[in-house]
Amino acid sequence: MSKEICVIGVGYVGLVTGAGFADLGNRVVCLNRNQAKCDNLRQGIIPIYEPGLEEIVRRNIEARRLFFTTDYGEALKDAELVFIAVGTPTGTEGEADLAYVQEAVEGVADVMTRPVIIINKSTVPIGTGDWVARIISRRTDIPFAVVSNPEFLREGSAVYDFYNPDRVVLGSTDLQAAEVVADIYRPLNCPILITDLRTAEMIKYASNAFLATRISFINEIASICEELGADVTVVAKGMGMDRRIGPSFLQAGVGWGGSCFPKDVKALEYMASVHGCHPQLLRAVMDINRDQRRQVLLKLRALLGNLEEKTIGILGLSFKPNTDDMRDAPSIDIIHLLQIEGARIQVYDPVAMDNARRILSNVTFCQSPYEVARGADAVVLVTEWNEFKQLDMERIKAAMRTPILIDGRNIYDPAQMRARGFIYRGIGRGYNGTGNQE
Ligand code: UGA
Repeated sequence: MSKEICVIGVGYVGLVTGAGFADLGNRVVCLNRNQAKCDNLRQGIIPIYEPGLEEIVRRNIEARRLFFTTDYGEALKDAELVFIAVGTPTGTEGEADLAYVQEAVEGVADVMTRPVIIINKSTVPIGTGDWVARIISRRTDIPFAVVSNPEFLREGSAVYDFYNPDRVVLGSTDLQAAEVVADIYRPLNCPILITDLRTAEMIKYASNAFLATRISFINEIASICEELGADVTVVAKGMGMDRRIGPSFLQAGVGWGGSCFPKDVKALEYMASVHGCHPQLLRAVMDINRDQRRQVLLKLRALLGNLEEKTIGILGLSFKPNTDDMRDAPSIDIIHLLQIEGARIQVYDPVAMDNARRILSNVTFCQSPYEVARGADAVVLVTEWNEFKQLDMERIKAAMRTPILIDGRNIYDPAQMRARGFIYRGIGRGYNGTGNQE
């Protein structure tokens, strides 16, 4: 049966959740405090680049199932279920900052007129569900339940992930409330795991930390491969064929970034250490990731010597393809490191240029990959956008001063690139077989 739902927050998680549940036939009101954003959303203009999302938003606005407001009273008027999907940025110590969650919870508690189920989708420290319950019960006598429902969708494929979750995790002390939330997910036909609040909160951190660990692991193997003459892409393929290991999240590269892994691994490390644990593995995972970004600098220095006044072209700026998100993108650190060495930087990204302009300074923004190559002493591929897989490499090479190609995501065939006359360096592609060495 369809439900009356309120979603607080219209970022990736909030907007996909709101639009998705509206699409499943529920009536959804999305709340955010920014009037301009809200006005745009009412017209179906979404604030982020996310394939397929705008279409679903528009469809459900037209069907009068999806609404936007800046007013708590209006948002909560008929709501039975209230999703909290606001940001939890990193605080000064690496902890998750809960200011937006607190504002949302207090906003709800102050206007609710009937029992509601508060469902937390924001990634929050273990114990936050209990804290939320304390805040609400201090402000109202109306009964309520708190359910943790961590989100696992990926940017760039968030819409697909909403409709095809591997699992839904629900945590609560109130089993009946958890069952009500489970019901709205039933149309998606996926396994639903019901557990307690803290365990559900931990599943989210442990999942993200594990995925980041897999990437840092393969990146460490990549560095060893480079020294010992093996090809990490084939190593990962061979490992992934083992069903116990599986092929996902084993792509070596310039490291993980984005709005989630860096923040969540840091927050878990913080939580562990302030509770007397020694999260050595998590620390190593972060360390390897930082070094991975520096590898680009080392490779360029090995080939070009001093980088002062050298022109370096950067292909791809967003933290991964199919998003315009620049949060903690490896490109930012790589560009900064090169600038410290005195290099001139020219960049191109298919969709993240506007966001990049707000973050990067002293770089030349180019109109195309070919412009990035013009006069470059080296080109570094940082984000594996599909359009970079189909480039006219003869044209790229002809435009460059020296044909040095650093393939930070291993998307090109080393032998082919060398045959075309490039000095090619991938990540973890040693000198035997398909490897690096000229
Ligand atoms: C990640 C998780 O995958 C989602 O399940 C989770 O819901 C989300 O965080 C979140 O907590 O909100 P996302 O940050 O969108 O999703 O991106 P991923 O596809 O996981 O990629 C993260 C980073 O790892 C990217 O920089 C990507 O380039 C890098 N990566 C990924 C690799 O370097 N190698 C791989 O094999 C896979």
